[in-house]
Amino acid sequence: MRVDLSGQVALVTGAAHRVGKAIALELARRGVHILVHYGSSAAAATETVREIKSMGVDAFSVQADVSGQTGVETIFTALREHFGRLNILVNSAANFQKRDLLEVSLQDWQETINTNLTGPFLCTQAAAALMRQNDPSGGVIINILDKGALEPWPEYPHHSVSKAGLWMLTQVSAASLGPDIRVNAVIPGPVMKPAGANMSDEEWAKVGQRTPLRRTGTAEDVARAVAYLSSEDYLTGAVIHVNGGEHLW
Ligand SMILES: NC(=O)c1ccc[n+]([C@@H]2O[C@H](COP(=O)([O-])OP(=O)(O)OC[C@H]3O[C@@H](n4cnc5c(N)ncnc54)[C@H](OP(=O)(O)O)[C@@H]3O)[C@@H](O)[C@H]2O)c1
Repeated sequence: MRVDLSGQVALVTGAAHRVGKAIALELARRGVHILVHYGSSAAAATETVREIKSMGVDAFSVQADVSGQTGVETIFTALREHFGRLNILVNSAANFQKRDLLEVSLQDWQETINTNLTGPFLCTQAAAALMRQNDPSGGVIINILDKGALEPWPEYPHHSVSKAGLWMLTQVSAASLGPDIRVNAVIPGPVMKPAGANMSDEEWAKVGQRTPLRRTGTAEDVARAVAYLSSEDYLTGAVIHVNGGEHLW
């Protein structure tokens, strides 16, 4: 059955800009109130909150480091104080470090695993508790992966391991948290040039050519998949590729 998301509450991590922002805006368009989490992009988060509120739903932002318990507690304290409930958690915040395997320091490893896997794990635990506390309709958790979860990316070894772990966290949480909490994932393909990458439009177009659909996608494509996984209430443990078929080649 398709659930009407209107009036629900969502937490989107890493939502100040880029893919996380598109997800937050798409949910807001469907009437969802949003907590915009951000790490360092305060001005962008303020602008995202303004855009969400202009759609007639409530929103506020919170700054926190998602890679550890203190930051996750900050987010959920703010959430409990402001909205007092939660229906949708989207774990989108992530880092993306390029390193050769033998050059990954222990600090690199811990930063990546903590941001991309431990943070979503802690958010999953806190979200499940809050979802069950105050809203009998339960909730849904959506993890944002990438293809590095399913195949080795030798240029991003610790990143690949972190997303593979997040893929399994999705499966094991889906198996554990029913019947009231569903857990799904989206695997975006090339939808935005990597943050900070100095990639020309021509280079980016070539990335799109490496997919069966021969083009890059958009953050909005990912956002609509998240909204779909949020509203279809017989989906749990589902993983949707939003990548122009990139995984087939
Ligand atoms: N872009 C793509 O084409 C693509 C493709 C496949 C998968 N994905 C996945 O989609 C998601 C979003 O992608 P994106 O390209 O929009 O990501 P991004 O810009 O690289 O990063 C998302 C956000 O994560 C936040 N973040 C990182 N480390 C953090 C920490 N320790 N604490 C708090 N916040 C932290 C940053 O927030 P601040 O800026 O506020 O610091 C950043 O804006 C990611 O999970 C990514 O792996 C993206």
